[in-house]
Amino acid sequence: MRKVYVALAGLLLAAVVVQFYFAAVGAFDRPMEEDSFALHNMVGRMVIPILSLLATVAAALARAPGRLIALTLLPLGLVVVQVLIVVLGRALNDDTGYTTTASLVVLGLHAVNGMAVVGSAGTILRQARALAAAPAGATSGGTAPEEPAARVP
Ligand code: HEM
Repeated sequence: MRKVYVALAGLLLAAVVVQFYFAAVGAFDRPMEEDSFALHNMVGRMVIPILSLLATVAAALARAPGRLIALTLLPLGLVVVQVLIVVLGRALNDDTGYTTTASLVVLGLHAVNGMAVVGSAGTILRQARALAAAPAGATSGGTAPEEPAARVP
């Protein structure tokens, strides 16, 4: 199960990288259309949340420490924040739907929070790999156990 956890954590990080790629695809699409960000929206609303959930279940079944299980759910929580930033930012547009200084200040946070998603996914993969490398039964996912102290005759 630890290997499944590592695989899901790897897929999660890959999906987040792809999400940045699709953000650029949407930004460069001309003419800009309703569906310019369709792939970005789909990966953000479905793929990343599902992978975060599956990886969290795998972390629990792999008997990862509680802190790591909670960390694995963090990308899902941060995606909720991503959606809230877009909803709140658009609510601050003017009556014609044009952006305002206030809406841009809020919408810009979408990129900053996106970096937090990258950071969390990277940390999850690193710690999942440390857990998989730890001796069977160990749950710390950290360093190898210390050698027993040498006996002085
Ligand atoms: C891990 C990083 C990211 C995640 C998880 C993410 C997630 C999302 C989600 C879920 C939506 C849909 C919001 C809705 O329901 O309406 C969205 C929309 C959007 N995102 Fe991201 N995003 C990320 C990074 C970025 C970056 C780096 C940019 C650009 C710098 C960006 C630009 C946009 C734009 C412009 C929209 C609106 C698309 C539209 O008009 O339909 N996102 N994002």
